[in-house]
Amino acid sequence: MAGTTNGGGEAKPATAARIYDYYLGGTYNFPADREAAEKMMQVLPLGPKLAQTNRAFLRRAVRHLAESGVRQFLDIGSGIPTEGNVHEIVQQVAPDARVVYVDLDPVAVAESLELLDGNAHADAIRGDLRDPQSILSHPQVRALIDFDRPVALILAAVLHFVPDDEVAYDAVGTLRAALAPGSYLVMSHATADEGERPQDDLDVAHEIYRQRTATPLGLRSRSRLERFFAGLDLVEPGLVWLPQWRPTPDDPQYFTADPKQSSGLAAVGRVP
Ligand SMILES: C[S@@+](CC[C@H](N)C(=O)[O-])C[C@H]1O[C@@H](n2cnc3c(N)ncnc32)[C@H](O)[C@@H]1O
Repeated sequence: MAGTTNGGGEAKPATAARIYDYYLGGTYNFPADREAAEKMMQVLPLGPKLAQTNRAFLRRAVRHLAESGVRQFLDIGSGIPTEGNVHEIVQQVAPDARVVYVDLDPVAVAESLELLDGNAHADAIRGDLRDPQSILSHPQVRALIDFDRPVALILAAVLHFVPDDEVAYDAVGTLRAALAPGSYLVMSHATADEGERPQDDLDVAHEIYRQRTATPLGLRSRSRLERFFAGLDLVEPGLVWLPQWRPTPDDPQYFTADPKQSSGLAAVGRVP
């Protein structure tokens, strides 16, 4: 169901999932998504490169965890399937690895389900990170994920769509409380420590998501991100700029010279 050919797509409001799909060169986006993405690119021309750099971090992190023996992955805010999806990477390492994708956007869920057709070890559900209990108790989640064993909880480029700190810390706290020792939290997050980007550009970016989508944007500083990992053992190299997390020569090299320009911090923490 490419956005360009979907009959109902003309009237659909933009969503974060489909703006991101457009950045990644995908086809599951509609006119409103493309318009919002183009507006974003006027103030953040690096948008598509940021998206690719974030995806590359996600691929490295889940491959690392699969190679470390993790066999269960709960990916919340998973987005529209694109190249190198979590189940493809981890099931290359361990064909029986289990993956559940969760997203707010029904298009992301529908496309994930289509891609997963016939994959007995992976599933996708519609769910809201702001209501973590309903994700944890969802029968399709329970059918694949055994919370008595280690789980990799993936929150990649999603928490900046939950701008309210109280809601975000609460949601991550509830999810973390369900994880057995030896589980992991994988996170990437757009950041804007003071002075890193012109405030006018940030104001425009906030305005675009606030006016055009149901998920306003809320960037967080390094210290606010560290709070999500309190009590976890950070996997080396800790909380770093996206391209600095265990880089490989196969990754996009857009920000190698100046990693801060990636505007995203990432970390993987282990539940002791
Ligand atoms: C930028 S995309 C990231 C996709 C993928 N995790 C990645 O890193 O490539 C953000 C995704 O989060 C989803 N999202 C935003 N708010 C959410 C919420 N409250 N609950 C679940 N998903 C949410 C959006 O629909 C979108 O698919």
